Amino acid sequence: MPFQTLKPQVESILNSGELSVDNRLTQICELLKENIPYYNWVGFYFKNGDKNELKLGSFAGEPTDHIIIPFGKGICGQVAVSNQNFVVADVKAQDNYIACSIHVKAEIVVPLFLNGENVGQIDIDSNTANPFSTKDERFLEFVNEKVAEILS
Ligand code: SME
Repeated sequence: MPFQTLKPQVESILNSGELSVDNRLTQICELLKENIPYYNWVGFYFKNGDKNELKLGSFAGEPTDHIIIPFGKGICGQVAVSNQNFVVADVKAQDNYIACSIHVKAEIVVPLFLNGENVGQIDIDSNTANPFSTKDERFLEFVNEKVAEILS
């Protein structure tokens, strides 16, 4: 399903104010995983209180052992300190990478800003090699901007 079609669905889910934030974020993860064929695991990590670590929030896909990720570790931990999108075409080429599944070939992590502060991120694993383009980055930035609106 094209990103332009998914955008109003993302907004509709996030506007379901009667549901908890976690419930709405789980629905976002499921929407993306089910409608974008190369999105095989979709999750949100958030800064864990005042600790320099990330904690897994809502996700869709196989459960992972990596619930807590220290800042600086793996692709996610690097994005927590760089504040930049990280597109990994080939996870095998990365030294600082935390493997969640042997099937994963590529990953994209986009930081989530609330009032200008990097408070978390959306993380996508793909079992397809080199699947991500700038279109994915712009779409995931849109998703995170909309998510930030319900976190404030
Ligand atoms: N691969 C990530 C760890 C999180 S899992 O993909 C769910 C990383 O290197 O930070």
